[in-house]
Amino acid sequence: MATDVMVVGSLSMDLVLQVPRLPKIGETLAGKSFDTFVGGKGNNQALAAARAGASTAMLGKLGGDAYGEIVLASLKDNGVNCDNMLVDSTISTGIANIWVGPTGDNSIIIVANSNGRLSPQDIEAAATEISSAKTVLFQLEVPIETIIAAAAVAKRGNALVILNPAPAPPSGSLPEALLANIDLLVPNETEAELLTGISPVDEKSIEACALKLLAMGPKAVIITLGDRGAVYMSRSIEGTTKIQVPTYPVKVVDSTAAGDAFCGALASQLARGATIEEAMRYGCAAGALACTRAGAGPSLPMAADLEAMVSTKV
Ligand code: RIB
Repeated sequence: MATDVMVVGSLSMDLVLQVPRLPKIGETLAGKSFDTFVGGKGNNQALAAARAGASTAMLGKLGGDAYGEIVLASLKDNGVNCDNMLVDSTISTGIANIWVGPTGDNSIIIVANSNGRLSPQDIEAAATEISSAKTVLFQLEVPIETIIAAAAVAKRGNALVILNPAPAPPSGSLPEALLANIDLLVPNETEAELLTGISPVDEKSIEACALKLLAMGPKAVIITLGDRGAVYMSRSIEGTTKIQVPTYPVKVVDSTAAGDAFCGALASQLARGATIEEAMRYGCAAGALACTRAGAGPSLPMAADLEAMVSTKV
C-alpha cells in the first residue's frame, strides 16, 4: 500500500535553553534550564504526521554519533518507516541551538552537519518510494538542489507535493524549477514576507501576499498566521478560492515546532482524503497543541488529542 506521507528533510538534536530574555552583545546571562530534544523540521513533520495517524516514511541523513542514534530510535518508536534513512559516519548529526523566552517565543541557530550532505543522488536512490507516496513533504534545511530533485521525482508519481519553505532562503527567492512542481506551498507569516516583501498583517495584505506567492508557480498556498490561524488561496480559470481557518486558543509554553506540527497534521489529513478546510483545522489544532508543551519532538500531538481539539468550537 502507498505510504500516506513521505518526508524528505532534516533531522537534528535540539539543544534548548530557557532564557529570561535575549542577552546583549558581550553579556553573560543565567539561563533557567537546559534540555535536549529530538528536532529538525523534517523529523518533526514526520513525527507529527505519524502521531496524527498517517503511515509515514522519512528520508534524511544522520551523522555517526549518539545524537543520530537517539533521533533514529525516536522515529522508529513512533512507527515512522526508516528504510530509506541514511547515516554518514564521517560527520556529526545536525544540531539546533534554541533559546526559548518567558512567553514561549524562540530564537534558533542551526548547524546542518549531516543534513547538508543529503544529495540529489540519495533522492534518485529512493525514487520509487518518493514517487509512490500519497503526499510528499519538504522543508529547506537540506541543500536546495536536493529538494529540487526530490520535488521532480515526487511529481513523476501522483503525489501531492507540499513545500514548507522554512527557513526562508537568505536570497528571499525560491527557484522556479522547484515551485513549478509544488502543489501546496506552506510558509509562515515571516517566510511569506521574506518571499514576497509583503507583511501579511490584515485581510488585504494577506490576500496580496498569497496572490504574489501563487504567481511564483505553486498551485496553491497556505499562509500560517500563528494565533490568527491559517489562510488558503488557489487560482484557477473559475477564479480565486480563499479559505480562512481560525486556530484554537491555548496557553503558550514553547512555540518550537508549531509550524512543523501544522504541516505534518495537514499532510496526514490530505493523504486520507480530507478537504483542504478539514486538513487546515487539524493543522491548526496540531500547531496549538505543540505550543502547550516544551521541546520539538515531544510536543507533537497524538491523533486522539487532535480529534478532541478539532471537535471543540473555536
Ligand atoms: O521548526 C522547529 C525546528 O527548527 C527545531 O526542532 C530545530 O531543530 C529547527 O530545525
